[in-house]
Amino acid sequence: MHFPPDFHFGASTSAYQIEGAANEDGRLPSIWDEFAHHSGRIKDGSTGDVACDHYHRWREDVDMIHSLGHNAYRFSIAWPRVIPQGRGALNPKGLDFYDRLVDRLLAHGIAPYATLYHWDLPLGLHAQGGWLHRDTCHAFADYAAAVAQRLGDRVYGYATLNEPRCSATVGYLEGRHAPGEMDQAKALQVAHHLMLAHGLGMQALRANTRKARLGVVLDVKPYHAADDSAASRQAAHNAYGVFNRWFMEPMFLGHYPQDIWDRYGSLVPTVHEGDLATICQAIDSLGINYYSRGHVEHSASKPFPHAADVRCTTSSFTDMGWEIWPDGLREMLVRIHQDYRLPDIYIAENGAAMDDVLENGQVHDPVRRDYLQSHLAAVAQARDAGVPVSAYLAWSLLDNYEWGHGYTRRFGICHVDYASQQRTPKSSALWLRDFIAQQRR
Ligand code: FCB
Repeated sequence: MHFPPDFHFGASTSAYQIEGAANEDGRLPSIWDEFAHHSGRIKDGSTGDVACDHYHRWREDVDMIHSLGHNAYRFSIAWPRVIPQGRGALNPKGLDFYDRLVDRLLAHGIAPYATLYHWDLPLGLHAQGGWLHRDTCHAFADYAAAVAQRLGDRVYGYATLNEPRCSATVGYLEGRHAPGEMDQAKALQVAHHLMLAHGLGMQALRANTRKARLGVVLDVKPYHAADDSAASRQAAHNAYGVFNRWFMEPMFLGHYPQDIWDRYGSLVPTVHEGDLATICQAIDSLGINYYSRGHVEHSASKPFPHAADVRCTTSSFTDMGWEIWPDGLREMLVRIHQDYRLPDIYIAENGAAMDDVLENGQVHDPVRRDYLQSHLAAVAQARDAGVPVSAYLAWSLLDNYEWGHGYTRRFGICHVDYASQQRTPKSSALWLRDFIAQQRR
């Protein structure tokens, strides 16, 4: 494997999952505070109130990133810190926090990648309809402008949204994430508004930056049929469309995928004239989050796309129950490049939850190391095939609040002891550090 000297290696986090300090310095609740405290749907009943206490430990965390040899770091900005009600008055203390974080990253030669929305919608906006309401898209654009006016080109890469698919589908159809609704039509309307917010957010970022690289982060997944039947192959095609094309075609081609649109029938969202032109903004860089593939068979009893997961008996799985399938990362990079010809792609998240144990001050996690290594190899193969990939960011820098799983899933390359807040780089982090150093030689 060989990566060029300007390739970015690093790790990712998100605000609600690591910051804690939920009620400090003017931050108001988001839909995730509300969901964690009151839904009864978090596996261990925990919240992000304290999380990794990163809001107080950010200096040491940046120093640790530096000691691991990373030259990039992706974090998210908490909208409820910056504009606590969602619209209206700015909270200077909120922006100050990210201002200092960005400066310290730069002082260490680490390129800041900032995501503006990693699922923490201010509760005040949700009370007025949240993502079901078009006005929220405009509030998002105002928030994006405020952040860009303050942080400007010190941020290397801005992403408007993290995984709009996940926000819409898991939050509004599956009900496992905030705000916990289960309604397909609402999920599709929310997806449309998220994409509209992306488009308006891109315009706001463009107007307030000169050289920062602008784009979005999407979760992507290849779908393979578990058997050779035409029905299962069709189910895999449709599942791919629902997961990937539903978001990429509006954003990169300016239209919804017609075959999937037709199958949704009366559930399709309300789309105003001009929306798709707004959604389809030229981006500088696409971040993709890749974890696993879909392996499905046709199931008539399931709603469209009529696809049921089939567990591949010869595969290995992570602690999330996700199949380890590194070639899917190569496959998606090549396909996205062929289908949309974007100027640049980077891996914004990739990683594995494992049942790690801290023993004698060390965490030995060879399965995660293999996971990282095999996925880096997939990235190298895609680059060899001509795909412009510029960065690899592992999920996650730290063990953290894994949404509905609370603190029961460990994705970090650095272990966190939640009682003492002690951080310990796992052996995978040390392997990655040495791998990066070897690439630099
Ligand atoms: C992604 C999320 C991230 C984390 C990983 C495991 O969908 O973007 O916050 O939860 O999954």
